Amino acid sequence: MAATRVAVPGRGVVPAGAAVLRGDDRGVLHGDGLFETMHLRGGEPWLRDAHLARLRAGAAAIGLALPATGVLVELLDTVRAGWPPEVEGALRLVCTRGPEGGGPPTVYATLGEVPAAARRARRKGVTVATLPLGVAARSRPGLGWLPAGVKSTSYALSTAARRWAERAGVDDVLWVSTDGYVLEAPTANVVWLTGTTLCTVPATETGVLPGVTARWLLDHAGDLGFTPAERLPTPADLHEVDAIWLTSSLRGLAEVRSLDQIPRPRSPHSAPLLTLLGFETR
Ligand SMILES: Cc1ncc(COP(=O)(O)O)c(C=O)c1O
Repeated sequence: MAATRVAVPGRGVVPAGAAVLRGDDRGVLHGDGLFETMHLRGGEPWLRDAHLARLRAGAAAIGLALPATGVLVELLDTVRAGWPPEVEGALRLVCTRGPEGGGPPTVYATLGEVPAAARRARRKGVTVATLPLGVAARSRPGLGWLPAGVKSTSYALSTAARRWAERAGVDDVLWVSTDGYVLEAPTANVVWLTGTTLCTVPATETGVLPGVTARWLLDHAGDLGFTPAERLPTPADLHEVDAIWLTSSLRGLAEVRSLDQIPRPRSPHSAPLLTLLGFETR
């Protein structure tokens, strides 16, 4: 996604090519940092406070000193000021550990257009393959030292999985635990409908990222007559359900149109769910 605007606390909007961090920033050297990506709609960051709350929880988990919430909100306001409200924006807030040897965290925000691929996935759905993650479903939260469910800038696993997907000729993957459960996608949660129950994977129990989009959707499931639930499915379970989606801030909701090469019929519920989430369905 091309960032068309960049803003830094105390500097305001800077030219997109301006330096915002040092070469020895631990965010760059070690992936030691956090970020949030928000959907800018009508010029406003959707579910901003939920994203800021997740960022703060992540910062507490990894011992990162974040600026005050007011500073972060002002930074987001600065970077989005004057953005055309009819253009969907991808608004990113980045906070890293800062330079080696100490120093304050590095903080900046970027704003660009939502990539066409994200909008296409929303309209047309995605093809997905399962991919082993090499960890047991419930192993991570209990370790004590490993911050689970944190939106870290360290995305090496996710980008490797994306490259694997490209080689395999699918749009995305679903990570599967060593004990056979579907966990999440590299940049999305999995949500599925079985009867009138709208389900996702429990984040606290598994350490998957607690997705802001999936949470909001399950909290509002009743608006469409669905009951929310958290479950751990196997791939075989998912083949039996009525519909499967990937949820994330920019894609919103992307229907899984084939899983491990088995095609799935288009769900009549995708459009109402997208409308509920406030996305256009065209
Ligand atoms: C691993 C992972 N899971 C789930 C999500 C979806 O989270 P959200 O709905 O808050 O964007 C993301 C978002 O990038 C992610 O990276």
